Amino acid sequence: MSAKPDLKIVLCSPRGFCAGVVRAIDTVERALDKYGAPVYVRHEIVHNKYVVDGLKKKGAIFVEELAEIPENTTAPVVFSAHGVPKSVPADATSRNLFSLDATCPLVTKVHREAAIHFKRGREIFLIGHSHHPEVVGTLGQLPVGAVTLIETAEDAKTISPKDPNNLAFVTQTTLSIDDTAEIVALLKERFPNINGPHKEDICYATTNRQLAVKKVAPVVDALIVVGAPNSSNSQRLREVAEREGCGIAVLAQRAADIDWNKFGNITSLGITAGASAPEVIVEEIMDAFAERYTLHVETVSAAEENEFFPLPRQVRPEAAAE
Ligand code: F3S
Repeated sequence: MSAKPDLKIVLCSPRGFCAGVVRAIDTVERALDKYGAPVYVRHEIVHNKYVVDGLKKKGAIFVEELAEIPENTTAPVVFSAHGVPKSVPADATSRNLFSLDATCPLVTKVHREAAIHFKRGREIFLIGHSHHPEVVGTLGQLPVGAVTLIETAEDAKTISPKDPNNLAFVTQTTLSIDDTAEIVALLKERFPNINGPHKEDICYATTNRQLAVKKVAPVVDALIVVGAPNSSNSQRLREVAEREGCGIAVLAQRAADIDWNKFGNITSLGITAGASAPEVIVEEIMDAFAERYTLHVETVSAAEENEFFPLPRQVRPEAAAE
């Protein structure tokens, strides 16, 4: 049998689960422990099939709308990490549903910023991708028409607000750092008095994962992002790798997704994972490469992360006796 070819694996650090995703998954697991199955979850708790399937096995039932939850149930319903429009908790209350809010605190922070701008009478721009659940949730914090979505630099160039001197912007948390910087710069150039965060609202996890890919992508032949196609931060990681000149930059949800024809002639491979992708899939993919290559693994780090977000009050350990 011929010896396996060598392959240098460069692991991006940080990668994978962020504090908001850990909190959201723990919320569902604690709810299952404390209240028993079923626990309803509105929308995929995080955009990862492996995680969702694991929770389903433990007794979570995923729904897209509260209307799918039976009347008079005492089972809890968990809102996903992406956040929800205000109408959703209001609807839950009117139906006497017991809800647990797993919205990431960094998304809640954006909701609060938008509410403050609205209170001050400002017209608000939200930089983000239409239809993404986080954007739907942020738009839904305020009355229809209070927030205008800006998706592209072209939108920033052409938008015509009612009063250019009374504006504010907020952003989705999982955007491309570079694209967003361009859009913010355009808005600030056109509307020098616009109010907003210092740079944008992109979260620490999105920023750090993109910075790590920027370091690794230029020095590898190919890069795999472990993540789902509907995961915004995973898609952005793939785009960052492409822009940094990495010839092959692909998403993979599982090892079985890998198109081996693409990886025939490589001698180095970068691996990262979106904020909703578990490390066990990174290991699965490395095992799949190890069957074909002799691996030499190193890690390139862009930042240290120590963030931790406490669980919703009702499912914190100290609330066990409630
Ligand atoms: Fe929160 Fe950022 Fe993760 S907004 S859910 S910490 S990707």
